[in-house]
Amino acid sequence: NEIAWDPEDAGKGSYEHYMKKEIHEQSRAIQDCLRGRVDPETNHILLEELAELDLPATVQLVACGTSYHAARYGARLLREHGIAAQTFLASEYRAETVPVDEETLVIGVTQSGETADTMRALREANGAGAVTLALTNTVGSSAARECDHVCYIRAGPEIGVAATKTFASQQVALALVTGVLAETAEPAFLQGLAELPAQIQTVLENSQAQALADAYVDSDAYFFIGREYTAPVALEGALKMKEITYKHAEGFAAGELKHGPLALVTERTPVFALLTEGSRLEKTLGNVKEVQARGAPVIAVTDAPQTVERYVDHVLEVPSTHPYLTPILANIQLQLASYWLANRLGRSIDKPRNLAKSVTVE
Ligand code: G6P
Repeated sequence: NEIAWDPEDAGKGSYEHYMKKEIHEQSRAIQDCLRGRVDPETNHILLEELAELDLPATVQLVACGTSYHAARYGARLLREHGIAAQTFLASEYRAETVPVDEETLVIGVTQSGETADTMRALREANGAGAVTLALTNTVGSSAARECDHVCYIRAGPEIGVAATKTFASQQVALALVTGVLAETAEPAFLQGLAELPAQIQTVLENSQAQALADAYVDSDAYFFIGREYTAPVALEGALKMKEITYKHAEGFAAGELKHGPLALVTERTPVFALLTEGSRLEKTLGNVKEVQARGAPVIAVTDAPQTVERYVDHVLEVPSTHPYLTPILANIQLQLASYWLANRLGRSIDKPRNLAKSVTVE
């Protein structure tokens, strides 16, 4: 007798979903992204792909969806290193209005390398004389062919529609690009990069996110707040949640809560608060108090459990690392929280309704 099977299922191994498998592949993905790219002797970042790249006067990052959140992270990192950098949703980008010239580097951040909005933005940037760089996972993709330079993130194939491991790899690759453009890399940061794969494994092995899903499966909505380096992770946490649970979720820079979103906060809207040492923990704790006063349960994702546990309802802990890398670890806890909630709800996790892995229409 023939047994009907989906060839894609063959690749899941012992995992129930590709998304879970890919969340668990992040340690490996980061090792692959870093391989041969950091010289421990000289403390230099080596991206051979960028050897011919002249240092730009300004950088513009264009992207969609999860890649846009990685781009936001990358732009902050670049600015921190004294490089003028701006992020654009690819669908909103117009090279003529920004504007660009031959001293502008336009980075298209795109896992697939095929997203139509990002491709149009890159073509426009090329047409306007910018230098272009594709930061992509896909060898030989349209973005890789369109751009003057390519940096591969080396995450390996990602089958789940919701991007997980590729987000982590994009962040690390953007950190490497920053090191090249800034012509410097702090030893403490390089040390953090070297320790990152093991720390990711620690998060994966110890996460309490599954138990949390049981407690909050019936909530009306989920909010996410972060600050500075963790603000893009708050946006990404909410995107993942809405993609795979179909529940209302929103992410904010913590300081924006009081300018509107606070009106939505009730005891039925758990708030995931990114409370990490490198991203002004004390200030975000102030925002936590604002939501608690409205009855909202608070789940802290933190590298400082001793400082925050008495203020919050639940703690999802991440190891301490360099502040640039904390967001990568914190995001894994949010991926797991979304995954387990969607799992409880019986959703089609790998193929959420109405969504596609790669959107090739504008
Ligand atoms: C689609 C996917 C998202 C992805 C976005 C950008 O909407 O469902 O997960 O973030 O496209 O894709 P890209 O391949 O350009 O990174």
